[in-house]
Amino acid sequence: MSDQAKKQSLVLRFIKEFLVYRKYTAIAVMTIILGTIVSLYPPYILGIAIDEYLIVGRVEGFLALSLMYLALILIQWLVQMVRGYTIELIGQKMVYSLRMRLFSKLLQTKIGFYKDKYVGDIVSRIVNDTTTIVDVFVSGLLNIIGDIITIIGVFIIMFTLSQILTLASMISIPPLIFISMYLGAKMRLAHRSVRGRIGGLTSIVEETYSGIDAIKSFNREKAFIGKFINESMNTMKASIQAAVLSGLYWSSTGFVSTLSSIAVLLVGGYLVFIEMISIGTVIAFTQYVGRFMGPINNIAGMYDRLQQALASLERVYEILDFPEVEEDKGIELKKLKGEVVFDDVWFEYEKGVPVLKNVNFHIRSGELAAIVGPTGAGKTTIVNLLLKFYEPTSGRILIDGINIKEIKRSCLRNRISYVPQEVYLFPGTILDNIRIGKPDATDKEVIEVCRKLGIHEFIEKLPKGYYADAGEAGKRLSVGERQLIAIARAMLRDPDIVILDEATSSIDPYTDELLRNAIKNLMVGRTGIIIAHRLATARSCDRVVVVNEGVVGEVGTFDELLNKKGIFYKLYQAQMSRTIELEYGYQYAGL
Ligand SMILES: Nc1ncnc2c1ncn2[C@@H]1O[C@H](COP(=O)(O)OP(=O)(O)OP(=O)(O)O)[C@@H](O)[C@H]1O
Ligand SMILES: [Mg+2]
Repeated sequence: MSDQAKKQSLVLRFIKEFLVYRKYTAIAVMTIILGTIVSLYPPYILGIAIDEYLIVGRVEGFLALSLMYLALILIQWLVQMVRGYTIELIGQKMVYSLRMRLFSKLLQTKIGFYKDKYVGDIVSRIVNDTTTIVDVFVSGLLNIIGDIITIIGVFIIMFTLSQILTLASMISIPPLIFISMYLGAKMRLAHRSVRGRIGGLTSIVEETYSGIDAIKSFNREKAFIGKFINESMNTMKASIQAAVLSGLYWSSTGFVSTLSSIAVLLVGGYLVFIEMISIGTVIAFTQYVGRFMGPINNIAGMYDRLQQALASLERVYEILDFPEVEEDKGIELKKLKGEVVFDDVWFEYEKGVPVLKNVNFHIRSGELAAIVGPTGAGKTTIVNLLLKFYEPTSGRILIDGINIKEIKRSCLRNRISYVPQEVYLFPGTILDNIRIGKPDATDKEVIEVCRKLGIHEFIEKLPKGYYADAGEAGKRLSVGERQLIAIARAMLRDPDIVILDEATSSIDPYTDELLRNAIKNLMVGRTGIIIAHRLATARSCDRVVVVNEGVVGEVGTFDELLNKKGIFYKLYQAQMSRTIELEYGYQYAGL
């Protein structure tokens, strides 16, 4: 499909969706037509009032005419209000529905969708693009109906009143169209550039916030301030340019429209002088001329705005149409025994680059297994497949003898708890953060679980304890401490299988002890899989799966693998000698 055809089909789809609001749209269109027609009368009546009453000194009927004038203005006011409200209502409903659909889609897409997207880009699609689309395709296009009627109506009335004056008033139309198309386009471009620059500023602040540790530790503060100054300066320049262009644009349109009024006055004055037309007609004309300009401006700028809205439409539908969504169909299981089998599993994130190659292992129900291996070996990938975040390229993963492909996704994830390496705490209390594991759990239940895990005292010691704000506390808590909260989350839902990605950062002996105890308590009576970065963890496991470059190199108990003197032995030796070096170093330093 060509680009143009693609855009057209998107617009058609949008219009179809828009038709849901046809009742409101009908009201809006009616008010637009009615309001516009009503608004055409007052200048005409003013003309009559001047010519047939004021100049000739006729009193009789003047009050009625004035009341009619007032009534028209009142109707206009009322209709305008209903029109504004209805258009806003349709627009806001549409924005709401688009945003809801985008956000739900984001939560339904497979996790791979997120890997190459920036948060700012997604936010901008949900917040800004939806508004642009609705502004242009709903309010913009609806208002254009009124603009067209105004132009036609005003033209007809003017033409009937005086053809010569109509011609004179047209003097400003060509420069006006030129200004709208040329200066207007420049002005809109400048405003877009300002928005882009502000986006740039936002991302620098975001980056700085996320990477503050690296910035400070590498003494990069000045560089980042420099980056910010640079972008701020560009924002300032762009804003000034936009302001200059805006000023130029609005004053030029004002000036050009005045040209028409002057032309009308000059020509009109002459025509009155030679008694070809009345004073009232000239005054009515000066009012009509003013009404032309707004609609012409709007229509001339529409092409530009349409292009922008089409780009937004594409960006929004790109998310809505993303084909890879998680399905929630299949066998419903209330409970798992917890037997896990990887049978000749192959997997690639990118076509042609296998990350897992012929992976085979078998973890029996109730066992505690360790997955170990060098960094980048594919350990997290194995977990990703087990949680159905991705599907194997080939091979089977069985839980209790059933291919997980056949198991309903939500059932599977309900029965498996995953404690990631880096835990994210949501804004809210610690209590609420633990409750994510089981939203209907009572406070007592949560506290009970923490007691069982042996972390109750740790949480109580935080300022405000369970009610500590996790947003604030989250930044203060160490990786290990955050993992403790995640372990409580995992335990709360009483899962059948627990997967834990051991934290790699060094953890102080006190937290380490807390963690080890909590992990031990969490694993009781369940199948446990620990991605063990510290190989000593594997000692207490029933089975150790060694992954290396996407291949399962060895499987066995800790002692069996050490005796085998293969990959595991080498990894273990290397890690032990590093630890000894470190400990020796501490001793040497007198610590
Ligand atoms: N989304 C992705 N797209 C492409 N490649 C990926 C993606 N995620 C991981 N990889 C690659 O797959 C390989 C295995 O990664 P994985 O995260 O499973 O390693 P790991 O064993 O968990 O390592 P670590 O011990 O450092 O956590 C790596 O080479 C990694 O670069
Ligand atoms: Mg990993």
